[in-house]
Amino acid sequence: MASFSDIKGFVFDLDGVITDTSVFHSQAWHQVADKVGAPWSKELEDGLKGISRMDSLEMILKAGNVQDKYTNDEKVDLATEKNTNYLKLVDQMTPANLLPGIKSFLDELKSEGYLISLASASKNAPKVLEKLQLTDYFPKIVDPKSLTNGKPDPEIYLKGAELIDLKPEQCIGVEDAAAGVESINAANETSIGIGDAQVLKDADILFSDTSEMTLANIKKQMN
Ligand code: BG6
Ligand code: MG
Repeated sequence: MASFSDIKGFVFDLDGVITDTSVFHSQAWHQVADKVGAPWSKELEDGLKGISRMDSLEMILKAGNVQDKYTNDEKVDLATEKNTNYLKLVDQMTPANLLPGIKSFLDELKSEGYLISLASASKNAPKVLEKLQLTDYFPKIVDPKSLTNGKPDPEIYLKGAELIDLKPEQCIGVEDAAAGVESINAANETSIGIGDAQVLKDADILFSDTSEMTLANIKKQMN
């Protein structure tokens, strides 16, 4: 692991790290799973985290053993329906949907001069940031449309570092998803996992909750 003094920037995931939208994604995917007759489980729910919209749909169809039942157009319709339902939930969001301690952590990073960027797989990230009134905190956002490969591929976290002109070794990536932690590690950044120790077993640093994420706690775990 890098040493704390090497770190100059943070590359953030959004859903499930900054805000509780991972619950909204799950809710909307659960409806799709019910519709196509795929069994919903905690493993499927965890496995979908961090995964792009169309890849998520494919995972659900596979879980229901119905991957060959739908044409491409029908798959696009299912994904669009999910997104419409997800956006209805996003529409009701306010800054109260920020996860505990996130705002003060971002302020701490800002005042200490750390650079920050966003590495979310979500095409809805700018809209969610706007709802949270965090747009000004994230001038640098990786555009998921520009990616060849989604998480767990390192591409998104490498771009997140590049956007703030840092080497991967100078960055900490923050994730709630196993696929995301894998992506950070493969990008050669230091990984912070937020959530379940079993699911995020490969994270360099683990916090069970966002409220534990402070520079002092990170430093303690790195040195
Ligand atoms: C990730 C979420 O951040 O974005 C996934 O963890 C989601 O659950 C993915 O499927 C893509 O999001 P969107 O908003 O582009 O469908
Ligand atoms: Mg996430």
